[in-house]
Amino acid sequence: MSEQFGQDFWEERYAGDTHVWSGRPNPQLVAEAGDLTPGTALDAGCGEGADAVWLASRGWRVTAVDFAATALRRAREHAETFDADAAGRIDWLQADLTAWAPPEQRFDLVSTHYVHLAGERAAFFRRMAAAVAPGGSLLVVGHHPSDLETTVGRPPLPELFFTAEDVVACLDSGRWDVVAAEARPRPATDPDGNEVTVHDTVLRAVRRR
Ligand SMILES: C[S@@+](CC[C@H](N)C(=O)[O-])C[C@H]1O[C@@H](n2cnc3c(N)ncnc32)[C@H](O)[C@@H]1O
Repeated sequence: MSEQFGQDFWEERYAGDTHVWSGRPNPQLVAEAGDLTPGTALDAGCGEGADAVWLASRGWRVTAVDFAATALRRAREHAETFDADAAGRIDWLQADLTAWAPPEQRFDLVSTHYVHLAGERAAFFRRMAAAVAPGGSLLVVGHHPSDLETTVGRPPLPELFFTAEDVVACLDSGRWDVVAAEARPRPATDPDGNEVTVHDTVLRAVRRR
């Protein structure tokens, strides 16, 4: 991993009084998982928990993992305030995704949004893929490398960013059906308040039964 974006960086990012993220589920999760039948889900790099809470409020039983203790505390509070029933369907787990291996073929959905692990990335994607149950979905969403050509203010470190093809390259092609592999546009606001279009890398693949 880029040491620059290790646990200390994220703990500091979450250290202020205000929430870092919007509290709304990520649009690519809503688009890709909205029609899936609820089962078991893993949210890897859950941050303040909006995706985990959205999934749980739709009936998913969620394991939500992050290494930032402050994010997990806020996520738990958010869940309990928003929907106590849903909160009861979420297990929060503090772990480092560069090392933590989820149980194999356990989850009907493995979702990870905006976790950029640079040199550790391929091994991370493989561990996440291994955790998907037969018939289940792997959903990997990240900031697309083309965002570096915009004014949105991504860190100027090309090695952090990846394409859907980079994720596909980590999958055994005989075992997966790729449902979405694209750079999907999304409106955003840059640090000067200008409206810009950024792109999300979106990979969804279904493990064959
Ligand atoms: C950009 S935030 C995205 C949070 C959430 N997925 C969302 O979209 O709102 C990245 C999250 O990944 C977590 N993270 C980054 N590297 C990690 C690692 N090695 N192990 C566990 N969590 C990590 C950070 O603490 C942070 O909460």
